[in-house]
Amino acid sequence: MKSMRLFLLLAFNALMLLEASGFNHETDRQALLEFKSQVSEEKRVVLSSWNHSFPLCNWKGVTCGNKHKRVTCLDLGGLKLGGVITPSIGNLSFLISLNLSDNSFGGTIPQEVGNLFRLEDLYMSFNFLGGLLPASLSNCSRLLALDLFSNHLGGGVPSELGSLAKLVALDLSNNKLKGKLPASLGNLTSLQQVGLAYNNLQGDFPNEIARLSQMVTLELSVNNFSGVFPPAIYNLTSLEYLYIHSSGFSGSLRHDLGDLLPNIRELAMSENYLTGDIPTTLPNISTLEMFGIGKNKMTGSISPNFGKLQNLHYLELALNSLGSYSFGDLEFLDALTNCTHLHILSVAYNRLGGALPTSIANMSTNLMGLNLGGNLISGSIPHSIGNLLGLQSLLLEENILTGPLPTSLGKLLGLEFLSLYSNKMSGGIPSFIGNLTRLGRLYLSNNSFQGLVPLNLGNCSHMLDLRIGYNRLHGTIPREVMQISTLVTLTMERNSLTGTLPQDVGRLEYLTELSVWGNKLSGKMPQTLGNCLSMEELYLQENSFDGGIPDIRRLVGVKRVDLSNNNLSGSIPEYLANFSSLEYLNLSVNNFEGKVPTEEKFRNATIVSVFGNKDLCGGIKELQLKPCFAQAPLTKTKHSSLLKKVVIWVSIGVALLLLLFVASFYLCWLRKRKKNHQTSNQAPSSLEVFHEKISYGDVRDATDGFSSRNMVGSGSFGNVFKAFLPTENKVVAVKVLNLQRHGAMKSFMAECESLKDIRSDDVASVLDYLHVHCHEPIAHCDLKPSNVLLDNDLTAHVSDFGLARLLLKLTKSPFFNQLSSAGVRGTIGYAAPEYGMGGKPSIHGDVYSFGVLLLEMFTGKRPTNELFGGSCTLHSYTKSALPEKVLDIADQSILHSGLRVGFPVAECLTLFWRWGLGVVKNLRRTGWQRVKPQRS
Ligand SMILES: *[C@@H]1O[C@H](CO)[C@@H](O)[C@H](O)[C@H]1NC(C)=O
Ligand SMILES: *[C@@H]1O[C@H](CO)[C@@H](O)[C@H](O)[C@H]1NC(C)=O
Ligand SMILES: *[C@@H]1O[C@H](CO)[C@@H](O)[C@H](O)[C@H]1NC(C)=O
Ligand SMILES: *[C@@H]1O[C@H](CO)[C@@H](O)[C@H](O)[C@H]1NC(C)=O
Ligand SMILES: *[C@@H]1O[C@H](CO)[C@@H](O)[C@H](O)[C@H]1NC(C)=O
Ligand SMILES: *[C@@H]1O[C@H](CO)[C@@H](O)[C@H](O)[C@H]1NC(C)=O
Repeated sequence: MKSMRLFLLLAFNALMLLEASGFNHETDRQALLEFKSQVSEEKRVVLSSWNHSFPLCNWKGVTCGNKHKRVTCLDLGGLKLGGVITPSIGNLSFLISLNLSDNSFGGTIPQEVGNLFRLEDLYMSFNFLGGLLPASLSNCSRLLALDLFSNHLGGGVPSELGSLAKLVALDLSNNKLKGKLPASLGNLTSLQQVGLAYNNLQGDFPNEIARLSQMVTLELSVNNFSGVFPPAIYNLTSLEYLYIHSSGFSGSLRHDLGDLLPNIRELAMSENYLTGDIPTTLPNISTLEMFGIGKNKMTGSISPNFGKLQNLHYLELALNSLGSYSFGDLEFLDALTNCTHLHILSVAYNRLGGALPTSIANMSTNLMGLNLGGNLISGSIPHSIGNLLGLQSLLLEENILTGPLPTSLGKLLGLEFLSLYSNKMSGGIPSFIGNLTRLGRLYLSNNSFQGLVPLNLGNCSHMLDLRIGYNRLHGTIPREVMQISTLVTLTMERNSLTGTLPQDVGRLEYLTELSVWGNKLSGKMPQTLGNCLSMEELYLQENSFDGGIPDIRRLVGVKRVDLSNNNLSGSIPEYLANFSSLEYLNLSVNNFEGKVPTEEKFRNATIVSVFGNKDLCGGIKELQLKPCFAQAPLTKTKHSSLLKKVVIWVSIGVALLLLLFVASFYLCWLRKRKKNHQTSNQAPSSLEVFHEKISYGDVRDATDGFSSRNMVGSGSFGNVFKAFLPTENKVVAVKVLNLQRHGAMKSFMAECESLKDIRSDDVASVLDYLHVHCHEPIAHCDLKPSNVLLDNDLTAHVSDFGLARLLLKLTKSPFFNQLSSAGVRGTIGYAAPEYGMGGKPSIHGDVYSFGVLLLEMFTGKRPTNELFGGSCTLHSYTKSALPEKVLDIADQSILHSGLRVGFPVAECLTLFWRWGLGVVKNLRRTGWQRVKPQRS
């Protein structure tokens, strides 16, 4: 028995020796060649050094141990390899570090990875790995870092992971994990970084987590946890970064939070169901840089003690119930003048009362965004507001502010968004507004501004959204305003404006809403209105316009049109009936005459209103109009029936004659045509040979009547619609040319030429991208790019995002909700569809890729730009420029000419800050592998 045991022991030792010798060098080679064989073919060339004639230890990405020459490190990060990961990887038994991040591996994580018992680092982030997280990973008991960020892993977090006692960093964010977190995670007492954000984790957060006293970063954002703010978090005394944005937590916060977590730098708690006061000790956390608790149910006051926080950059408390609508609510603003690093302050939509302190003008000149809207703030904007030279957005709407716009506002040359609507401000709209050439949105509606509309508003050449309705303005609408070609929304309703609607309105190609109702405008509606191809809402009612409706047949995206209460005359254009998006058409109380159509939209009396036009006839009976052909009053029925018979017979006779005539004419024509054909012996035109012909009717049906819903883009030469051709079961793009536009045909032919070229490779199948690749990544953020353009080198670019909206969907941040309440739609320069670090459009569905996309859009630089390499990434490049030098790195085409419909930089910036606060710390993500946890 004893000898038997001895023998076993010897044999075992011998095996160990063998394993470390050259014999198993071969095992590694075989395992790697097997791995290579499963890498998708088109990328296998990257591994060309993996061949029999080249030494294993020199293969690309391979590092061997000094003594035993076994593979200890396999680093294939960022090579964009596709295919699947072979189980043979589990045979690399000396492997210490495995990096397959930022590739396109699909399939699952092989169970066999669990055989790698020497493994310390396992990086597989940014792939498409699905299936379950293998429980066998728990055998890799030396694991320090496990990074599976951004894959498609489903199922639960296996409780077996609780045995990875040495684990320092665990990132499972951006997957599809569900269920409850296992209590066993509480065993991982070395953990410093934990990412579980953007999953579908449920249930209570385990109390056992309280034991993880080394924890520095905890990301739980965007999950469906239940229960109160996890008590375990109060025990994590080393915590510096806590992100629980939109995680489902409720309940109140402990008052001693600031004392228990004294090292916090960033605390993101927006969009939960938290109640009670902001912890009084929070301002004791001297390290605090960012605090966001917007969109919760917080009550109580805002402590002036926030003024003690020298490092505070970002304070977001919007959309709560803070304050008591009384004097003193704004005392904290005085104190915040101490915070010299403050960039963003939002306390909008709370219950703050009292007068706006003049001290706000003494706040940090770093302040970029100040948002106090939706409170009950009185007083006036301080004269010295112009001190805040860094200000990009000043949002004070929906308060009870009085007084004029201070002159010093004219100094805020960086201002992009000024929102003062629904206050009680008075005085004129000063002409210095024209100096604020970066202004993208100006909301002055619903105040008591008087005087003229300043001509030099026209200098604001980046203006997207100009709202000055519901004031006491008089004089004419300056044609200069109509020359701001970027305008998307222009509202001037309910003033006392006179004169005509300037012809220049036709320049506003991107205008979707024009509202000038309730003024004293007169003259004809300009013919050029028909050029405003983006128009959706047109409100001209309650003026004195006369003449007919101009030709607006091309405004097929129109939804709401109100021309009521004018002196308009002429007939109602039939084509209005076919505007498939039309929801509301009010032509009442005018002098329209003739027949009211009965087709399509005119079948629905809820949509159309025409009363008060005494010469209209016909229409559906709900409209209660007189019939169009008054019949001869015949009294004797006998007489009338005889007459009817005669009329019918005569009609039939005439019809037969006509038919004969037409038929003979047609025959003649046919014969002639045939003859021509034979004599000229021409080849059929190339168009007929190579192109399938599709009838207008089919195209119309396929685009749902050129519905705006199907419009995927518009440019100077026409609009592009998405069309579904049921007979071929194909989605195609239909470009409708604006033939009146000089050069449209030429441009179209050029486009056809280039499209022809890309068919074969680049696979910039735009729609495929839109529907297959794009849909998925944006599942979280509801990104629906409505436009894909091709650039000079035939790369597909996404534009026309309606960006603001989608950002909001993404961040769901109250602050940004305020920022974009107007919902800018438009093109933001260009955006390449490569998600991640270049190459393929990925379907990672994660915010990271979106981040890169945005950075790229913003900087105009691709992540693959030669500028970048090593530790210099698009991310670090952008970050280093924030905030002071941001305009230096911004794509000049965003700022200047390339802009079709702009995108206020303020919003972009605030977005960066939003990320900074990190719903998920996406931007850090790129650096994570390099910021390796320290080995103890
Ligand atoms: C093997 O790899 C080396 C190094 O990349 C290369 O020079 C050689 O051509 C390769 N041999 C074969 C047969 O592919
Ligand atoms: C890990 O945690 C679980 C549950 O908290 C516990 O039952 C188990 O004993 C722990 N295992 C180890 C190895 O510490
Ligand atoms: C968490 O902290 C509380 C005191 O706040 C303490 O009673 C409890 O034991 C701690 N839990 C752990 C697991 O350390
Ligand atoms: C502002 O800073 C000054 C000097 O650093 C300090 O004395 C004062 O208490 C601070 N005020 C607040 C409200 O924190
Ligand atoms: C606006 O700009 C003009 C010309 O640059 C300058 O003369 C004027 O002082 C500016 N107004 C304000 C209020 O800054
Ligand atoms: C008429 O239009 C209204 C408003 O668009 C719509 O809700 C309703 O369904 C329509 N009715 C018919 C019969 O189409």
